[in-house]
Amino acid sequence: MKIIIYGSQYGTTKQYAEELSRKTGINLKSYEDVKDINLYNTVIYVGALYAGGVLGMKRTLAKMSQCQGKKLIIATVGLADPIDTENTDSIKKSIKRQLPNDLYENAHIFHLRGGIDYSRLSFKHKTMMGLLYKKAVRLPEEKKTAEVKAMIETYNKKVDFIDFDNLTAIVNDI
Ligand SMILES: Cc1cc2nc3c(=O)[nH]c(=O)nc-3n(C[C@H](O)[C@H](O)[C@H](O)COP(=O)(O)O)c2cc1C
Repeated sequence: MKIIIYGSQYGTTKQYAEELSRKTGINLKSYEDVKDINLYNTVIYVGALYAGGVLGMKRTLAKMSQCQGKKLIIATVGLADPIDTENTDSIKKSIKRQLPNDLYENAHIFHLRGGIDYSRLSFKHKTMMGLLYKKAVRLPEEKKTAEVKAMIETYNKKVDFIDFDNLTAIVNDI
């Protein structure tokens, strides 16, 4: 049995997961609603990036046992541009820290670009972004990674980089 699981706070990741479900006919659940991860032999986890972590992924996939013979696809959704390999390398490193080694080694990993609307952020997230922004602008130019630059450029704005065409590679992999 196949399942698409999503971890989304403000809905951009959910939009990608819903479109993927429409394109493939595979059922969809929020990570909070997954009762037994071991019911599925193909898991497609679509998760938003929050401070490098993939929302809900660690807790949901930690219970996945006997990964041999199972297929795990992970798609991250973040603000930073996945065309930049510096950015995707750092996301992969962070995923490696969040998963048991055998799961990480077998996972097919994809990166999608989401969006942000600062007017809709919770107080906690607004404060976090404010602190990150203050730190980021003070960095010397050569220390500003693609991720940092994307954050500075989009600070306090509403931006939408959602592009469903980027789901094709994932659909083909499934
Ligand atoms: C507090 C906070 C931390 C974030 N951290 C990252 C990050 O580490 N990397 C990244 O690419 N995007 C980061 N983002 C941007 C989100 O990943 C992006 O807005 C995503 O589309 C959110 O998905 P959602 O709408 O499904 O919650 C962050 C956003 C917030 C508010």
